[in-house]
Amino acid sequence: MSEAINHPLNRKLRMALVGGAGAAFIGRVHATAAQLDSRAELVAGALSSNPEKSRAAAPSFGIAEDRAYGSISELIDAELALPADQRIDFVSIATPNFTHFGIAKASLEAGFNVLCDKPMTTNVPDADELVRIVRETGAVFALTHNYTGYPMIRQAREMIANGELGEIQAVRSNYIQGWMCGLKPDPNPPRGAWKTDPAKAGSGSLGDVGTHAYNLICYVTGLTATEVSANMRIYQPGGKLDDYGQATIAFGERQLGTITFSQISHGRLNDLTLEVDGTKASLLWRQEQPNELIVRKTGEATQIYERHPAAAYINDSCRAACRIAGGHPEGFFEAFANIYNAAFDDMVIRATGGTRAEANLYPNVLDGAKGVRFVEACQASNDERGGWKPLKERD
Ligand SMILES: NC(=O)c1ccc[n+]([C@@H]2O[C@H](COP(=O)([O-])OP(=O)(O)OC[C@H]3O[C@@H](n4cnc5c(N)ncnc54)[C@H](O)[C@@H]3O)[C@@H](O)[C@H]2O)c1
Repeated sequence: MSEAINHPLNRKLRMALVGGAGAAFIGRVHATAAQLDSRAELVAGALSSNPEKSRAAAPSFGIAEDRAYGSISELIDAELALPADQRIDFVSIATPNFTHFGIAKASLEAGFNVLCDKPMTTNVPDADELVRIVRETGAVFALTHNYTGYPMIRQAREMIANGELGEIQAVRSNYIQGWMCGLKPDPNPPRGAWKTDPAKAGSGSLGDVGTHAYNLICYVTGLTATEVSANMRIYQPGGKLDDYGQATIAFGERQLGTITFSQISHGRLNDLTLEVDGTKASLLWRQEQPNELIVRKTGEATQIYERHPAAAYINDSCRAACRIAGGHPEGFFEAFANIYNAAFDDMVIRATGGTRAEANLYPNVLDGAKGVRFVEACQASNDERGGWKPLKERD
């Protein structure tokens, strides 16, 4: 196999970042993860909704002045005017939820690939429109449900696909945070003011962390959800969006799943867990200890599978997602970079006229639409005190 970068394209992919200025959280993670494996370079950006702040932030991301833009429309116009061998290949969207649709649509229609943060949009028609545009343009679209990039999650996924757990019966995923505890209302927070505004966020803890749990369940088990019953609460004084909730998910007539999402649990940080019960074994993974996967079989000692790429018990999916030897912790950035890596593989194929596989290793636009449908179905169910709502798949 060739050692050239992005063979047979044989060059780095050129990235534009949207969002990330000031105290923003995830923009910096996108920039770091995308460049971790030297397959891409950040060359352009529209880093804030404020054009001056956007340009001012560019040097701290290594973006040259002439490609520091004031808005996404300015970015697209200027990039399209550049010769093809300088123009960006993809746009990474790290902005508030309500802006994802417009930025993604404009980027896709300009011919660029897109990496978008979750939730993909704030309503189902917008999500469906993105699915249509992605199909029409043939662009690569990846959604950063980044937990799917952890090596031990890939290990679990392959073990389940191979039948090592037997038939899957039940699955639980909880995403428990506590950052809202004791939060004083701040009219001008340094970041994330949009998160408590229903028009800008679309949902609260459900969209923010519940969608990660839902995506993780579907990604690891391969099950298709058919119905959901959800109940949510607003505990934060003056809050307008759910900050706690739980959803029961039916996967057809047999398998059952539950998700709890919280941002009001004292002292809890980013405690995302996944538990899967099969007829032969069960497993447990915890993102705060992501290099371990716990496997249990009745009557046998509990097994801890460590992320150790040289070990015989590690499967190919897991090994391919590892960068360093076991015992050296791999974490959030590396998992995020694994989403980028898989999307880069497809971008290279697109750019060189090859044929892409139907299935994606990364969460794609259909997964994004599924997540938005899940949010709307949970909200409709909550309005009816937990009434069951169908989770229709898009065609
Ligand atoms: N995948 C994950 O683990 C993860 C973690 C946190 C946040 N997120 C998602 O990432 C997105 C951003 O979240 P955040 O916590 O970084 O928010 P944030 O408030 O910290 O940062 C948002 C950034 O976007 C910029 N911005 C706003 N509107 C813009 C526009 N129209 N054009 C360009 N820039 C604009 C702001 O100036 C700011 O720099 C959200 O959709 C959120 O759900 C994902």
